Amino acid sequence: MNLYDLMMERRSVRYFKDTKIPDHILEKLIQVANNAPSGGNIQPISIIIVQGVEGKKKLTEFVGGQPWVKNAPLSMIFCIDFYRIKKWTLKSDTNFQGENSLSHFLIAYADLMCAAQNVVILAENYGLGSVYVGSIQSKIDNAREYFSIPKYVLPMMILSIGYPESIPEFIPKLKHNLIAHNEKYKILSDDEIVEAYNNKYGDFDINVDKYLEKAYIEVVEASKQHKTSWIKLVKKRMKKLEIRNHAQFLFKLRYPSKAMVEFNEKQIQAFKNAGFDIFQ
Ligand SMILES: Cc1cc2nc3c(=O)[nH]c(=O)nc-3n(C[C@H](O)[C@H](O)[C@H](O)COP(=O)(O)O)c2cc1C
Repeated sequence: MNLYDLMMERRSVRYFKDTKIPDHILEKLIQVANNAPSGGNIQPISIIIVQGVEGKKKLTEFVGGQPWVKNAPLSMIFCIDFYRIKKWTLKSDTNFQGENSLSHFLIAYADLMCAAQNVVILAENYGLGSVYVGSIQSKIDNAREYFSIPKYVLPMMILSIGYPESIPEFIPKLKHNLIAHNEKYKILSDDEIVEAYNNKYGDFDINVDKYLEKAYIEVVEASKQHKTSWIKLVKKRMKKLEIRNHAQFLFKLRYPSKAMVEFNEKQIQAFKNAGFDIFQ
């Protein structure tokens, strides 16, 4: 498959076969992560390779029980790592202070995602599937403690990888010409914006199961792998919250705006616990 087709056909995979990833492939995945672009070529990242039952179980717990983390043969925890650089600079008569710099933090997070996305693409090329799990960011303290992660290191993203048991057929996306602006930013009218998202998600709530498949594939996949019917629970919540459109579904139920803002405090504290003080 050529690279364009491979990237256009990639989908997040959340249902994996129970087949170990050969060591020589894992080695290559790590190599492409290490060869990713990095601001200033500082390479402020570390990756924790988790393949053991206990580690995967704990990791699943830290991400609110998402079953693909437990069922994938491999999860990679991508960390912003300033520990290594700080030590090196202190031994070299200087003092890197990335932990107090918003700019170093933002670039390091971008580096981390470049490395992770290199892994995603190479994994696809080997017939593997993968899914990012960002929810680890809500349990940074727990993850740091369990995986013996030192100060100045933040676990920021999981990539769970394995041979696909099933791959979602369709995920709605915006039309590609909507995200590209020619030379200058083109402001769309309110109607054009509403239409763009209507095009993306289609009619709301004609058939809730079908809708969830499009808008919340995670609950469909979780229900396949777990005794609990997450679909039923979500339907109940939709009713209770009187969800009437896609935007409400996303920001009243999935990512409730108020809770997301209130979460800042906990997250900033977890950063501080890891020695990061970038929001003074
Ligand atoms: C930063 C980031 C965080 C994500 N976190 C999760 C997650 O916690 N759980 C999950 O099941 N999928 C997660 N995903 C996967 C997205 O849900 C998925 O990319 C999106 O639905 C689009 O589907 P596609 O990857 O098949 O195009 C994450 C993706 C990104 C880029």
